[in-house]
Amino acid sequence: MTKKGTTQTWFITGATSGIGRELTAAALARGDRVAAIARRVDALSDLSERFGDALLSLAADVRDEQSVRQAVDQAVRRFGSIDVVANNAGYGLFGAVEEATDAQARAIFDTNVFGVLNVLRATLPVLRRQGFGHILQGSSLYGQTAHPGVGLLAATKYAVEGLTDALVGEVEPFGVKVTLVQPGPTATAFLANLDFAEQIDEYDGTVRAVQEALGKLPAEAFMQPADAAQAIMRVVDCEQPPRRYALGAQAESDMRAALQARLADLQNWSKLGQTADGK
Ligand SMILES: NC(=O)c1ccc[n+]([C@@H]2O[C@H](COP(=O)([O-])OP(=O)(O)OC[C@H]3O[C@@H](n4cnc5c(N)ncnc54)[C@H](OP(=O)(O)O)[C@@H]3O)[C@@H](O)[C@H]2O)c1
Repeated sequence: MTKKGTTQTWFITGATSGIGRELTAAALARGDRVAAIARRVDALSDLSERFGDALLSLAADVRDEQSVRQAVDQAVRRFGSIDVVANNAGYGLFGAVEEATDAQARAIFDTNVFGVLNVLRATLPVLRRQGFGHILQGSSLYGQTAHPGVGLLAATKYAVEGLTDALVGEVEPFGVKVTLVQPGPTATAFLANLDFAEQIDEYDGTVRAVQEALGKLPAEAFMQPADAAQAIMRVVDCEQPPRRYALGAQAESDMRAALQARLADLQNWSKLGQTADGK
């Protein structure tokens, strides 16, 4: 059953794998229409055969503003409007902050932050004109917390969270809703697609120790992307969706601990910090 019994139109980036692909399949399965974006869209041919015209596969690179604009134009030409934008495409980089090269750091920002901005700039004129829409911003538990080895990945997700906190108030008057989706570890191609920094031995006790521990995580520690997609569908169907949406118990507990630690710093250092007011 679709939202309020109506057919929804989705614009999903990173639609060929993992969470994006499951979201695409779930939306199509309930009768919605999807403009599915990725660089290599041949991976969607099975869904294309199954769902025909309800799926519009569009090869575009989120790093390339022009190709994103063209994809949005084609989606609107085919479907007339966009109800949900899933700004989901992204990848990870593992290594100490010092280990990541300038090129690696810029590359992950190019996809995870500037790609997200390209999608926003291309879709917001459509959503504003319509006077409705729901943007799902692809964040992570690393949008609120980080540990050794994920500094650059977390930097991109924190950036998405910061710009989204401003965006919410900017687009709300136009009837556009925004939700940061914060998945915990999910069994997708994310790990296989990880970029790795060149190792500096001095980080063996921290970054490599974390890497080893992560490598030993049992399969049960990972959510299934199909379950994550269903949880996302449920929030899309809410009349008043949240600004932040943690997916899975791991994401929730890690972010809760990080937020409590932040609050503790604020409280414990309040007196000293307020001396800056000069009173
Ligand atoms: N898996 C996790 O544990 C986890 C946890 C928290 C958050 N997340 C977030 O969830 C999102 C989806 O990740 P996933 O786990 O589903 O990963 P995935 O299985 O590796 O899928 C990534 C998708 O993004 C697309 N993509 C990558 N770069 C692109 C680009 N420049 N332009 C267009 N499409 C691009 C890929 O297709 P092409 O390569 O064909 O372009 C693919 O469809 C990411 O933002 C990730 O940070 C994942």
